Amino acid sequence: MIFGRVKPLSAILATAEKKSLHRSLGAFQLTMLGIGAVIGTGIFVLTAEAAQKAGPGMMISFIIAGAVCAVAALCYAEMASMVPVSGSAYTYSYAVMGELIAWMVGWALILEYAVAAGAVSVGWSGYLIGYIEHAFSIEVPDTLTLGPLDGGTINLPAMIIAALVTMLLVRGTKESATVNAVLVGIKIVALTAFIILAVPVMRMEQFEPFAPLGFGGISAAAASIFFAYVGFDAVSTAAEETKNPQRNMPIGLIGSLGICTLFYILVAAGVIGTVGAQPVMGPAGEVLEPGTAALTAQCNAIANQAVTCSNEALAWTLRQIGWPQIGNLIGLAAILALPSVILMMMFGQTRIFFVMSRDGLLPAAFSKVHPRFNTPHVITVLTGIFVVLFAGFFPVGQLANISNSGTLFAFAAVSIAVMVLRRTDATRHRPFRTPAIFVVAPLSIAGCIYLFFSLDSRSILLFFCWALVGLAVYFLYSRSRSFVGQGIIDVPEDDVGIPPQPVPPLPGGIHTPGGKDA
Ligand code: ALA
Repeated sequence: MIFGRVKPLSAILATAEKKSLHRSLGAFQLTMLGIGAVIGTGIFVLTAEAAQKAGPGMMISFIIAGAVCAVAALCYAEMASMVPVSGSAYTYSYAVMGELIAWMVGWALILEYAVAAGAVSVGWSGYLIGYIEHAFSIEVPDTLTLGPLDGGTINLPAMIIAALVTMLLVRGTKESATVNAVLVGIKIVALTAFIILAVPVMRMEQFEPFAPLGFGGISAAAASIFFAYVGFDAVSTAAEETKNPQRNMPIGLIGSLGICTLFYILVAAGVIGTVGAQPVMGPAGEVLEPGTAALTAQCNAIANQAVTCSNEALAWTLRQIGWPQIGNLIGLAAILALPSVILMMMFGQTRIFFVMSRDGLLPAAFSKVHPRFNTPHVITVLTGIFVVLFAGFFPVGQLANISNSGTLFAFAAVSIAVMVLRRTDATRHRPFRTPAIFVVAPLSIAGCIYLFFSLDSRSILLFFCWALVGLAVYFLYSRSRSFVGQGIIDVPEDDVGIPPQPVPPLPGGIHTPGGKDA
C-alpha cells in the first residue's frame, strides 16, 4: 500500500508538454538565479547562531552544509529536467513512489516553505530594529520586537512584513527583472563590502579554540546553517527553460552553491577573525542554546558584547570594528533584500498547496482563484496567517531548524526517487543526467540523514509529530478524495490551471512562465 497509487509519469509529462517554453537561460543566468534565491537570513542572521553552537568551527559547518546541498542539487536537477512541472519534490515523488510518499513529501514541504518564510521575517525584523536603533538612535522595546522564547512578548515587525508580503501575493506581483537584478546586486555588494572590511583585519588568535563544543557543535551548526543554502531548487526548476541543460544545469547549481559557499566562508572568517565567535556560556559555564531566554539573560549580563548575542550579526560586527555607517548600510541592504526571499518562500508554499488541492488531496477551495486579482487568494491568505503567527512568536533559529527538517526529508525523497527511476524507467529521455548517480544520490541521502539528526531534538520531535498529523489527515480526509485513487488521471489544460500571476520574478530577473517554479 505504501507505494501504491503512482501518478503515471506520462500523464504528468503530458501536462508539461502542453507548454513549450523557450530555452533561453545560460549558465550565467542560472548561477545568478541560484545566488539570488539562496542568500538571505541564513548568512545575515544565523551566522550568530552557528557561532553559538560551533564557535570558529562554524567555518567547517558552512562547508558541510554546502556539500550536502551540492549532491542533493545534482539529484534535483535530473528530476527537474525530466519532470518539469509544478510541485517540485511532491510531484516527483507522486510519479515514482506513489501517493502516500508524495503526500508526506508535500506535507514536509509545508515546513520547508511556510516556516522558512517565518524565519526570514524574523531575520528581517532583527535588521530593521538594529537599523532604527543605530541610524536614528531610537530605543525600541524588546517586548514588541522579540518573540516570547527570545525574552520578548511578540515580534511585531516580523508579523507586519509577513502580512505585507501576503497582501502583495494576493494582489499579484508584477514582474520586474530590473528590481530583481538590483536586489541580487545589493546582496552581493553588501557581502563583498563586509569581506573587504573585515577579512584584512582578522587576528588569528580569534580562531582559538577552534571547536570549543567539539564536532557535535560543528554538526549542530551545519544542520542550522543548511538554511543558508535553501532556495537553490529554484535553479533546478528552471530546467525546462535552460539552453543545453546537460552542461548548464550543473554549472548553474554547483556554480551558485560554490559561490555562496565561498562568500559564506569568507564572511564567517571575517566575523570570527575580528570580533571572535566563542559561544556565550551560562554563569556556571553551561552551554546555552540560541533562541532561549537563558541566552538572552546572559547576553544582557555582558551588555550584548558578543556576536552570538546579535540579531544582525554582520551589521553588529562592522560597527564593532569601526565602520558604523557601513554597518548600517549592510543593515539597510538586508532590509531591502530579505522580503524577496520571504516572497519566494510563500509563493512556493501556495504553489505546493495548489497542486495538492488540484490532485484532490486538499480541499478544492485551496485552488480557488480571485476573480479580480487572478491569484489563489484563499490559500495565500491561509498561508499568510500561519507565517504571521510563526514570525510573531518563534525565534529565528528554531524556525530555520524546523524548516530544515522538512527540506532535508524532501531532498532525501528526491534523491531516492531519482535512483528508483533510473531502474524502473531507464530509457526515458533525461535532459540532464546526474553524474555518477549511484554515488551522488546515496551521498545526498546520507548527508540529509546526518544533518537531520544533527538538528536540535525539539525540531526533530516536531517533525515527527507533524508527520503523524499528516498521516492522520491523509487517511481521514485525502485518501478517499484523491483523484488518482478514484481513477481520474487529470491532465490539466495548462500546467496548474493557476493563473499566470502571481509569479514572483525570480532573482536575477528570470521569470518562469506559467509559474512552474514551485
Ligand atoms: N537561504 C535562504 C535564506 O538564508 C532561505 O534566507
